[in-house]
Amino acid sequence: MSKGTFYITTPIYYPSDKLHIGHTYCTVATDAMARFKRMQGYDVMFLTGTDEHGQKIEEKAAAKGMTPKQFVDEIIEGPGGILDLWKLMNISYDRFIRTTDDYHEIAVQRIFRKLYENGAIYKGAYKGLYCTPCESFWTESQLTDGKCPDCGRDVEYAEEEAYFFRLSAYTEKILDLYENQPDFLEPASRVNEMVNNFLKPGLDDLCVSRTSFKWGIPVDFDPGHVVYVWVDALTNYITALGYENDRYNDYAKYWPADVHFVGKEIVRFHAIIWPAILMALGEPLPKKIFGHGWLLLDGGKMSKSKGNVVDPTVLAGRYGVDALRYFLLRDFPFGSDGSFSNELLISRINTDLANDLGNLVSRTVSMVEKYFGGTLPSDRQEGPEDAPLLEMAAALRGDVEKEMERYAFQNALSLIFKVTSRANKYIDETAPWVLVKDEANKPRLATVMYNLLETIRICAVLLQPFMPQTCVEIFKQIGAGENLQSWDAIAAFGGLPADVTIQKGATLFPRIDLAKELAALESLTNTN
Ligand code: ME8
Repeated sequence: MSKGTFYITTPIYYPSDKLHIGHTYCTVATDAMARFKRMQGYDVMFLTGTDEHGQKIEEKAAAKGMTPKQFVDEIIEGPGGILDLWKLMNISYDRFIRTTDDYHEIAVQRIFRKLYENGAIYKGAYKGLYCTPCESFWTESQLTDGKCPDCGRDVEYAEEEAYFFRLSAYTEKILDLYENQPDFLEPASRVNEMVNNFLKPGLDDLCVSRTSFKWGIPVDFDPGHVVYVWVDALTNYITALGYENDRYNDYAKYWPADVHFVGKEIVRFHAIIWPAILMALGEPLPKKIFGHGWLLLDGGKMSKSKGNVVDPTVLAGRYGVDALRYFLLRDFPFGSDGSFSNELLISRINTDLANDLGNLVSRTVSMVEKYFGGTLPSDRQEGPEDAPLLEMAAALRGDVEKEMERYAFQNALSLIFKVTSRANKYIDETAPWVLVKDEANKPRLATVMYNLLETIRICAVLLQPFMPQTCVEIFKQIGAGENLQSWDAIAAFGGLPADVTIQKGATLFPRIDLAKELAALESLTNTN
């Protein structure tokens, strides 16, 4: 029976450049969360998509001599494009929205009209500064050293007739929202940023239409104006459910969203402008905005850099999709920035995946094969080494759930890997290679093997949201059938049949020679 619904979203990505490991980070995190919730028994809606309008895309397409639609189609649907990347990364989204989809465009026009008719939007003239890469309006005082405070690039002066959204009317309401619902925006540090940087100074009305370029959704009652790309983009979270359109009929079922995952630089759009738009529409607010940190490269935001490969397709091709997924969620606390490097990635694969998990599985399965021909006898004999391992393994599901509920992926994984290291230690403590020398010890040896297999099974069930393909392989090797792979199947220790049969397979994660690999990556980036 379903435990209820769970609606989770990623930002919709600009199809303006090739996506890098930083974009993959948020999508993998959302995917892990969606898989986790499905395993717990929730009816999950996982939405992702692409944000295709705006001046930036129009300019990039023109530079390539393409129409904007041709340009975005290529980046989204073309070979090695966004859809291919999400397929490669095993992203289990339930719905993919493109803001150029007809139903979305119609819905945005209806939303814009509704806001105009109820007085939330009015017509005026815009005079001010605009950052095209961020598609953001700024006032002089908001700039940092005369540049865009978000991306540090040049801004340009824009003056045009425009529609405005009465955002200034929402300062108090948004402050009240944070006050009354302290977990609306997380981590808490983001609330301080919003309050100090935007709400305390007071919100200005927001320009929500442009006339100086064409690539956007036309305001249907005022030709020449296109809807500001952020209004177009934010409303994707409801149009994708069927709000103001006939394509879907899921709004009542899934809205309000349980959580929007977004990067820290777009928190203000999600935690200020988005709730204000919803309030103006008279619709419920999402339950939570989680503003994750950035993966930094050499202390700055991602870009191509000498010596480091940031293309997820290349990295997944070299080390495997699951290794990459694991690394992203294990190395960086989700709410904070983290420094990315290829060296960190390779070291993490070697220590956790090759030495710890991979080694545990291959040692255990090899011993079961060597000592028992692959099938355990049912005789048992408990020993003093068992309790500490069994207690940890039995408590693991509940412990992991607590961390996942807080979106603490790093902690959840660290708990699972504490158990795999404990299991490796258990092998050393029980010394199966000594036990096997005496026939009388066979029941004890079988118990040790069973406890190891069962511990591996529990860890593998819990690792499925993070490393789905690897877990399929582990289940095969340890003889855990489909009925033993679910969340419910690890409610207690001891699910594997007593006479379980293993099936030895390939090494899960071969050790990587760090120095050689770094040299290979270096030469890859030099030729790029
Ligand atoms: O902002 N580390 O799209 P986008 C972590 N279309 N996250 C990163 C990152 C990095 N190095 N670089 C980018 C947009 N991101 C809008 C969203 S939603 C209604 C509209 C994250 O393609 C970034 O923080 O520029 C953002 O959350 C996401 O990638 C999409 O960025």
